[in-house]
This record gives sequence, structure tokens and C-alpha cells, in this order.
Amino acid sequence: MAEKYVLAIDQGTTSSRAIIFDHGGQIVATGQKEHEQIFPRAGWVEHNAIEIWDNVRSVVADALSKASLNHHDLAAVGITNQRETTLVWDKTTGEPAYNAIVWQDTRTAKIVDDLGGDEGQDKYKARVGLPLATYFAGPKVKWILDNVEGARQKAEAGDLVMGTMDSWVLWNLTGGVDGGLHYTDVTNASRTMLMDLKTLSWDEEIASDMTIPMSMLPEIRSSAEVYGEGRAKGLLPGVPISGILGDQQAATFGQACFEVGMAKNTYGTGNFMLLNTGTEIVPSKNGLLTTVCYKIGDKDAIYALEGSIAVTGSLVQWLRDNLKMFSSAPEVEELAATVEDNGGAYFVPAFSGLFAPYWKSTARGALVGLTRYVNRGHIARAVLEATAFQTREVLDAMEADSGVKLAELKVDGGMTGNEMLMQFQADMLGVDVVRPKVAETTALGAAYAAGIAVGFWEGEQDVIDNWAEDKRWTPNMDDGDQQRLYRNWKKAVTRTFDWVD
Ligand code: G3P
Repeated sequence: MAEKYVLAIDQGTTSSRAIIFDHGGQIVATGQKEHEQIFPRAGWVEHNAIEIWDNVRSVVADALSKASLNHHDLAAVGITNQRETTLVWDKTTGEPAYNAIVWQDTRTAKIVDDLGGDEGQDKYKARVGLPLATYFAGPKVKWILDNVEGARQKAEAGDLVMGTMDSWVLWNLTGGVDGGLHYTDVTNASRTMLMDLKTLSWDEEIASDMTIPMSMLPEIRSSAEVYGEGRAKGLLPGVPISGILGDQQAATFGQACFEVGMAKNTYGTGNFMLLNTGTEIVPSKNGLLTTVCYKIGDKDAIYALEGSIAVTGSLVQWLRDNLKMFSSAPEVEELAATVEDNGGAYFVPAFSGLFAPYWKSTARGALVGLTRYVNRGHIARAVLEATAFQTREVLDAMEADSGVKLAELKVDGGMTGNEMLMQFQADMLGVDVVRPKVAETTALGAAYAAGIAVGFWEGEQDVIDNWAEDKRWTPNMDDGDQQRLYRNWKKAVTRTFDWVD
């Protein structure tokens, strides 16, 4: 029998990618395309969902052609995605009612405030694991229904549906207006503020508080099962689509964090650390989220504690695009290497407010500690260090919540190619930082989920067997220096609070 492969579609914040994996979990070919970041106003971030779907199609075709394969060679397709980014579309025409509102967008600040009322930010936390914050999907749907002309009537008539980007990709792949499947998986559903973590079903009371008709919501499925197949006239006719995981949960899966107490940290546009808590739903007292980690078919759901940081890699992109400090993101490391230290400068990138562990939507970014001594190199360094400091804050919260002291941290994502950052990260955490050979763990995790569902891989043990260490960074900083830097960082963070009225 000819060798088969698994395709993962990774619909991310800045680009869409298609990656083909072989049975050993190795990359065979990749297609990638960036999409436009639309900033209509300060604090608003949107994506054009039609552009994204076009890009998904073109990267799938590109990956297949680079690998000289066609859909017959694929055993399964997995989908992974930027989470929380929300789309409302008309299922009768396939037209979006509005651009997708991106997870980083802060326009729902008033909506979430009003929803909290006297009970405040933690009103729904016991049920959904999340504080009321602009990050999550449900309030974005409410914003669209409240602000787009005619949307509420169409939603009430049953024509408009909502979904995170996994649902949009799945619906289009499986037929679109001709009977496309309107599903999501438990991990994505756990980011809407609308799913009860225990029952893994929609909470009708919260949906009603948010004035979202139940008919708009997709059906919640597990992360690994055959949902359906690529539509007959499409790109992937007849290929089983059998894995869906939000990108951070997919990375946790791809990093083989299957045991309670195992954690990974992904360095993307933002940073996301997830700690596996097994079948136990662990509430956070320290500003973390409780979320679904994955659910394989009929097996019990596995949960996680998560520390989400909104801005890390996207701060480097901001220096590149908005300040034109360099022309490609990796140059930040060269620039940072021109100086010995941060020169006293601290950059707190609260561009989308502050996520974990603060959850302050009214915070805004600040660059503090400036003197005439500070130059571009110091700022580049402060930018890299911001990622490591924010990760330290999340790790502290995680250890406090779980009572587990982490022995080492598995890392992945674009910024883990930055040696200076990884060393500084190990220094700041005081534990080893370990990167695997296949750093594309997000796509890999989605591929594994899809492959497990169709029997291409037997189960989690295959993921563990295929995982291999590439590089390890060991802490090497004087304790006094570490404490001083972190103390200054904490002070800098307080300078960003309550900026927006
Ligand atoms: O929660 C947002 C997260 O899923 C986005 O991930 O990798 O697209 O920045 P990424």
C-alpha cells in the first residue's frame, strides 16, 4: 500500500499554513500565506474571512504540489486555529456579516463590563473557567449583532451563524452553502465564554445574557473524530476531516504534554503557556484561565490551566512595521546584541490591555526607564525581555495555582529561534527551557489528533515516541541580577494600568 500522510491546516493570527506530515511526525511540505491585519481604530483588530478562506485553499494546494502528492495520499486532515477570533456569517449565502473580530481586539470592553455588573469580572468563571474580558468570542458576537445593520433580525431568523476560525474552515471545506458542517471542538468552544466546562455543552443562560440566539452556535464535538469529509468538488474530496484543536491546545498535544503537571509555552504573536491538569477542572486564583486541553473521541476531556499573554512576537512585528526599526523580525536579535543589557528600559506591550495574570482591558503599552543613554539596541533588548518577563509572571501564577514546581519548560513557536531570548528566558525562570526537533508543534498536534481518529496513529504513545529534544537552555544568571530585573519589570507593569477611561 502506498505511504499515506496527514495534512494539518493551521489558520493562525498572521498567516494560514498547510503542513503535510509523514508517519514519523516529520514535515514533508509546507504552504504559507499571510493575510491583512486590519486596524480600523485604536484597539480594533479585524481579519477578512474571505481572504483567509482563499489563503487556506491556496496553501493546501501549494503544500500538496510541493510534496508531489494529491488528496488520495492523505489519510486525514486536521484543523487548528487562532482561538477566540470570531466570525458571523450567513449560511445561506456564505457571506460574512462583518470582518472576523480578532482575539486581540478590545472593542467589547463596555459589553464585558456591563455583563459583569455588580458581580464583576468573575461572574461566569465557575462555569466557563474564564474572567469577563475582551479576549473571548461570545461578547464579540454580541457586538456584531448590536452594531451591524440587520444582523440581529437575520440571526433571529436562523440565517446567521457564528464560529471561531475552525468552524469557518470546516464549514467551507465540507460544502459551505451546500450543507457545510457547522461544528466546533471542545477546545475552541471553551474560549467563547459560552460553554460549561463540566457538561461540555452551551450554557443557555450565558448565551441569553449575551443576547446570542442558540441557533447561531455550532455543534460541539470532540477534538479527534471523523466530522465529515472534504466536499466532492473541493480541494480535498472525500478526505476525512478528523481533528480540530485551538492552536495552543494543539501545540500542547504536539509537545506530548499528556501527563498531569506537564506544560508547554508557545511563542507566537502572543505567548500561551498550558499546564495539563488531567480530568480535573482546576479553578485559578491567580489570574489564569481554566480551559479544555483536548478530548479524544469518547474519552474523558482533559483540562488545562492557561496563562495567555496577548503581545510577544507581535511586539517585534510592531517595531518592524510601525517603527521601521528593521526589515525582518529576526534582526531584532542582532540589534539587541549590540548592547550589554537593557540600559534601564522596560517595554510593557499592553496593546490589547493586559491578559494573564492581570486581565486589565484598560491598560495600554508603556516604554519606561528612558534616559538619553538609551538607544535602539536597548529598546530591542527591552522588547525581547518583555516576552521573558511576562512568561515569568505566568509561570509564577501557574505554580501558585497548581502547587506544582515545574522541572523544565517545553517551548515552541517562531521566537524560540532567538537564542538570546531563550537564554534570558531560562535565566528569568530559573528552570531549563527545552525546544523539540519539530518546532511546528501546533500543526503537528492537529495532525496527530486527526491521524489518531482514523487509526493512522494508534494513540498518544506515538506522539511521545516521535518527540525528540533539539536544544536546551540552562539558567546562568546571578540571582541578584535576576531579582532586580524582575522587580523593575513589575514596577513598569503598574505604569500601564487604567490608561483608558
Ligand atoms: O488565543 C489566541 C491564540 O490562539 C493565537 O495564537 O499563534 O495565532 O498567535 P497565534
